Amino acid sequence: MSDNQPHFKEVLGQISRLIAVTTTVLLLVIVLIFVGILATDHVQEWDNLYLNSPEVTLSQKLTLENAVEYQSDEIKYGYELITNTDQLIGMSVDDSSMRYTGNVLRCSSCHLQGGTQSYGIALVGVTGRFPQFRGRENKEGTLSERINGCMTRSMNGIPLPEDGDEMKAMLSYISWLDDFFGEDASSISPGLKPIELPNRAVDLVRGETLFNKQCTVCHQSNGLGVASSDNSAASYIYPPLWGELSYNNGAGMHRVITAAQFIKFNMPFGITHESAVLSDEDAYDVAGYMNSHERPQRANLDLDFPDRKRKPMSTPYGPYADDFSIEQHKYGPYLPIAEYYKQAYQMTKKK
Ligand code: HEC
Ligand code: HEC
Repeated sequence: MSDNQPHFKEVLGQISRLIAVTTTVLLLVIVLIFVGILATDHVQEWDNLYLNSPEVTLSQKLTLENAVEYQSDEIKYGYELITNTDQLIGMSVDDSSMRYTGNVLRCSSCHLQGGTQSYGIALVGVTGRFPQFRGRENKEGTLSERINGCMTRSMNGIPLPEDGDEMKAMLSYISWLDDFFGEDASSISPGLKPIELPNRAVDLVRGETLFNKQCTVCHQSNGLGVASSDNSAASYIYPPLWGELSYNNGAGMHRVITAAQFIKFNMPFGITHESAVLSDEDAYDVAGYMNSHERPQRANLDLDFPDRKRKPMSTPYGPYADDFSIEQHKYGPYLPIAEYYKQAYQMTKKK
């Protein structure tokens, strides 16, 4: 008997420890379940309030990417082509017949957030503005032709076949953006927002200083950007601003005024037109500095703008309908050029 007593006590002790542990675990589980229920309830309640609120726009409810998931294959492909251009039709895709672009940019490198950013050259609302008269070709142009304008200049590539799957998909996506935003489409501002042009030429030294302060974290001091190490993503995390893998000299971004408008209201990346950090002068100088570097050259640019009066002032290649130097067209000052066009041709030039 005396032998058994400690043994019995041990068993009793073990049982009570077991009970204690089980109770604690059970209590914990109950608390967790309770917290869980409270949280889901809270999320559901918040979801209901949020989704049913007339104050909340469709675009805020659904992210673009989510919404695209529910669309046709053609729209999905168009979205992929715009946001992942280099992976699908870039210069290094496996299928050589699909190599249409000639650099590492994506359409969305400039048409920010898949073409949905106000004053970030949005693609929302574009469908309704085409066909339109285009000065560069001096004729009425379709949206496909406009896209191919960016293909051959901004993307330094070759035109997409007008009746091919890629062009059709891009057109479908761009047109679907209008449906996606519905009544809110008009709140997304098109194109680029004007800046006040300083009445002086670009100051390249000032531009370089600003560039080193505001841009090199991402685009690097050599301007060549940062390649991605993830093969499934875009080939560049930060796109090149000049050099062989950037836009060519016939691109709109190669005009100082256009680039300054883009930079002022969209860079450093993450800002919007409502939270710009650069002054107009800063953007002007940094745009000039960016465009003072080497980049791919496009042939036959002298044939652009057959009606030379229509050439934007900051087009950095001739011939022109005026006697200002190429240097002045490239770096300003622009106000004397604008004044000349007003006097000689009664034209108001802003870019
Ligand atoms: C290097 C920058 C850049 C890239 C990359 C680029 N674009 Fe553009 N795109 C521009 C600029 C600049 C304009 C003219 C904006 C202006 O003057 O208001 C423009 C205009 C357009 C327009 C007309 C917009 C309007 O409001 O009328 C369309 C459509 C377009 N681009 C499609 C594309 C597509 C599709 C791609 C990819 C295949 C692409 N772009 C790549 C810079 C770029
Ligand atoms: C925080 C990182 C970051 C900073 C800082 C930044 N950029 Fe960018 N920039 C980007 C990214 C990312 C893109 C492409 C956007 C996309 O693909 O969604 C871009 C695109 C561009 C483009 C159009 C695409 C191209 O390669 O030509 C230009 C031009 C540009 N940036 C100029 C500038 C300038 C000038 C500055 C400094 C004032 C600057 N950026 C600062 C990240 C940055």
